[in-house]
Amino acid sequence: MRVQRIQAQCWWFARRRAGVYNALINAKEDDAMIDRTQALALLQKYNKEPFHIRHALTVEQVMRWYAREQGYEAEQDFWGLVGLLHDIDFEMWPDQHCAKAPELLAEIGADERLVHAVCAHGWGHNPNSPEPVHPMEKVLFAADELTGLIFAATLMRPSKSAQDMELKSLKKKYKDKAFAAGCSREVIAQGAELLGWPLDELMDKTLQAMREAEQPVEQELARLTAQP
Ligand SMILES: [Fe+2]
Repeated sequence: MRVQRIQAQCWWFARRRAGVYNALINAKEDDAMIDRTQALALLQKYNKEPFHIRHALTVEQVMRWYAREQGYEAEQDFWGLVGLLHDIDFEMWPDQHCAKAPELLAEIGADERLVHAVCAHGWGHNPNSPEPVHPMEKVLFAADELTGLIFAATLMRPSKSAQDMELKSLKKKYKDKAFAAGCSREVIAQGAELLGWPLDELMDKTLQAMREAEQPVEQELARLTAQP
């Protein structure tokens, strides 16, 4: 059954790929887009672990930073939504990561652009994931694991923050394969290659994005925790 489902989804992506690519290229700020409140509610419905909520909020902010930095400022809400929802299926269906996501995203009427972007971040590691095509998808693919590595590195610092973390310190953690071993160096390097950036550039930019993400993420986590 699982093989059939994956094959069906591969076919689904192949059939839509050309159309989706055009939609991605032509994405505009005023395109019909799901509401962030709905997206956050969906995230909380399928993610209960604080670590996963924090990761989703962090990647949301990092994606917003990259949208501004890469000249897609008008689309930063969309880039952020993709970041917020990219791991929607991982906590409850780790064996179906990126395969279960389309079904969950359909609950809030997510469009093909969002579904494609979410599923593309598992490219090369999940048989149903399409290749990232839009710069936004390439950034997500490249930065996702790296945000995990940077967060793990912040926990080792007296400040528990990325604000005073330097690139050379991050590079040392990257090279130490035993540190945060779950953060795939292979995927990070593959992501930099996909973007056509030197690895140092990807690390430097993502570190900057993580510094900016810290405050809004902490504020939102405090708000969510305070909710009855
Ligand atoms: Fe992730």
